[in-house]
Amino acid sequence: MEVLIGSEAIQGRVREIGRQIARDHPEGAPLLIGVLRGCVIFMADLMKCLPIPHEIDFISISSYESSSTSSGAPRLVKDIGRDIRGRDVIIVEDIVDTGHTLDFLRRTFLARGPASLKTVALLDKRSRRECNVPIEYVGFEIPDRFVVGYGLDFAERFRHLPYIAALSPEELIPTPAIRSAGVA
Ligand code: IMP
Repeated sequence: MEVLIGSEAIQGRVREIGRQIARDHPEGAPLLIGVLRGCVIFMADLMKCLPIPHEIDFISISSYESSSTSSGAPRLVKDIGRDIRGRDVIIVEDIVDTGHTLDFLRRTFLARGPASLKTVALLDKRSRRECNVPIEYVGFEIPDRFVVGYGLDFAERFRHLPYIAALSPEELIPTPAIRSAGVA
């Protein structure tokens, strides 16, 4: 496992993004919509660094599950529980890879008539992009490596790490325990 972005660098960048979002929303009250489950640590830290009133909600969509490559179209598993018409909405993503998930989310939310819709992503694997999606706030652009930590997982492991690390190809092979649990 190779550490790509250390904990202090993440904290510093999250503080900058918080200040930037606050500057762009002088009247406050944006609604942050976190994309479960990878967003949780980023979302919590971002909230602490966002010096304006804001609300939060969460959405859950089908993800890679135990695989390290994208599979199939995104599917809504859990929706938000409120009307976003006329609201300034900010989607909070852990990572944007091909962009299909974000494209799906943007189309879903834009159809509901928000006043504005922006995205903040901690990580951007821009070289893998297949959909041309705008991302207003990006933490770090990273190379085409499978990364874990700071909320991101591989087969539900490594979310707790305070840094972002890249897994080697050998580490991406499911272990017998994971295989027998039926999640690989
Ligand atoms: P996209 O639809 O290809 O942009 O994929 C977005 C989702 O895939 C993210 O929200 C993550 O859940 C997952 N994902 C993409 N790359 C990685 C990675 O390197 N590590 C962990 N999850 C990833």
